Amino acid sequence: MSERLRLGVNIDHVATVRNARGGLYPDPVRAAREALAAGADGITAHLREDRRHISDGDIDGLSALLNAEARPLNLEMAVTQEMLAIALHHRPHAVCLVPEKREERTTEGGLDVVGGHNWITPFVGRLNEAGSRVSLFIGADPAQIEAAYRTGAAVVELHTGAYCDAVREGRPEEAEAELASLSAGAALATSLGLEVHAGHGIDYETVAAVAAIPQVMELNIGHFLIGEAIFVGLGPAIARMRALMDEGREIAA
Ligand code: PXP
Repeated sequence: MSERLRLGVNIDHVATVRNARGGLYPDPVRAAREALAAGADGITAHLREDRRHISDGDIDGLSALLNAEARPLNLEMAVTQEMLAIALHHRPHAVCLVPEKREERTTEGGLDVVGGHNWITPFVGRLNEAGSRVSLFIGADPAQIEAAYRTGAAVVELHTGAYCDAVREGRPEEAEAELASLSAGAALATSLGLEVHAGHGIDYETVAAVAAIPQVMELNIGHFLIGEAIFVGLGPAIARMRALMDEGREIAA
C-alpha cells in the first residue's frame, strides 16, 4: 500500500500573477515544465467558470506539454456542460470534479455527491468513456465516499483544508480530529476500491501527516508552493515539499 506518493503541482496561481497585469508573463506552461523538472509527477490546473486564473489557452498549452512529455494532466473543473465539453475535447489523463461558487476565493468545501448524485453520475460516465480517470473532490465523510463510489468514479480526492487550517490557526485538538477523519475516510475509500488523493491548503508544516496516511496515493498542492517560489524559486520549493512528503511516508511505513 505504501507505494511512492505522487505529487501533482497545481500551477493556477502562476496564472493569477500573470492576470494581475494581463499579458503573457509569468507563463503557467513554463511553470509546469519547471515543476516536472523539479520532481512533480503531474500538473494540476483548475479551469474555473469565471476564468479568474487558468484560461482556455493555458489548457491548450498544458495539454500539449504534458502529452509531449507523456506526463499526467489533472484538469479540475466544475460539473457543468461547458466544462464537460472542454474535457472531452482535451481528454486529459485525469479530471477532478470540484464544487464551484463564483463568490468563493478558493474551493471551500467538497462536492455534495450525496445530494448531487443524479447530476454527477452521467458526467463521470462520459468522462470514463473518454478515457479520463475521474476523481471527485469530497470531504472525508463516509456518506460522501460511498456516494462517490456509486457514481463509478475511480478516485476520490479528500479535502485537507479543514485539517490544514486547524494546524495553522493553532487548534491542535481539531487538527487531530480532522486528521483522524481523513485517515478513516482514506481507509473506507480504499476498501471500496477507490484510489485516494488528497489536497487543499497543504504546506511544509502539514504535508508529512497527510503523506503518512498509507492509502493516499497522490497529493495536489498549489497555492503554498507558488507562494514559496517567490522566495526560493519553484524548483527548490517543490524539492523541499517532495522531501517532506517522502519523510512523512517513511515514518508511516
Ligand atoms: N485539490 C483540489 C481539488 C483543489 O481544488 C485545489 C485548489 O485548486 C487543490 C487541490 C490545491 O489546493 P492549494 O492551492 O490550497 O494547495
